[in-house]
Amino acid sequence: GRRVTVRDLASAKERGEKWPMLTAYDAMTARVFDEAGVPVLLVGDSAAMVVYGYDSTLPVTVDELLSLTAAVVRGSSRALVVADLPFGSYQSSPAQALESAARFMKEAGAHAVKLEGGRRVLPQVEALVAAGIPVMAHLGLTPQSVNTLGGYRVQGRGQDGDELLSDAKALQQAGAFAVVLECVPAELAERVTTSLAVPTVGIGAGAGTDAQVLVWQDLMGLTPNPAKFVRKYSDLATEMDRAVRAFASEVSSGAFPTREHAYS
Ligand code: KIV
Ligand code: NA
Repeated sequence: GRRVTVRDLASAKERGEKWPMLTAYDAMTARVFDEAGVPVLLVGDSAAMVVYGYDSTLPVTVDELLSLTAAVVRGSSRALVVADLPFGSYQSSPAQALESAARFMKEAGAHAVKLEGGRRVLPQVEALVAAGIPVMAHLGLTPQSVNTLGGYRVQGRGQDGDELLSDAKALQQAGAFAVVLECVPAELAERVTTSLAVPTVGIGAGAGTDAQVLVWQDLMGLTPNPAKFVRKYSDLATEMDRAVRAFASEVSSGAFPTREHAYS
């Protein structure tokens, strides 16, 4: 079958259907999530932390994310693949944003890009949309701004909520096809969701958004101290620890390999 498109996501909102989005950073996990029917895969700049081991999303480069994005596109066949534009690859001008986004579309085969920020990135969103590149916006806790936000904390409380709603409306007006809402009060996320025609994708934003996204390592129980908004659907860290200890011990004892794993 064909890939999910941004129009399918718009129709889902009209029908009141909620959908899941997951991060993916390699071909094998992309295939598993794709075959499970996850309609949208995000090659998040969270790769900075979960793949590359940096302690924030700031250091990751376009080149580092391009290879991961290409792998996710190759590993999937149904999902819409969204690539995060990393810190420093779009802020300086619409031309810079277009140059970076075009690399994700041309070199990695991404189907859309995501960038962080409200009204300050409208010229970038407009330039990308004008060039035919679907843009997912990202408001609330925008990790690329962790140094001005003063940490990873809830955003959009009180007066800031009205600002966020105005940003969301402006991004929709500029042509964004969806808006991620990260770590905002559930009531605000609900207000944004009913105010917008385009889908909202929540993470730590309550149950009222049109879609939900999680970093897959959080969902699977690989992340040591996951945020309050994460539900662990598996305990892979424990399972992998068990498996690797069993392998190590059978190598030491000589219990692995046996004749059935050997060639004569
Ligand atoms: O980088 C990322 O994984 C993200 C999602 C958590 C929305 O931006
Ligand atoms: Na991100």
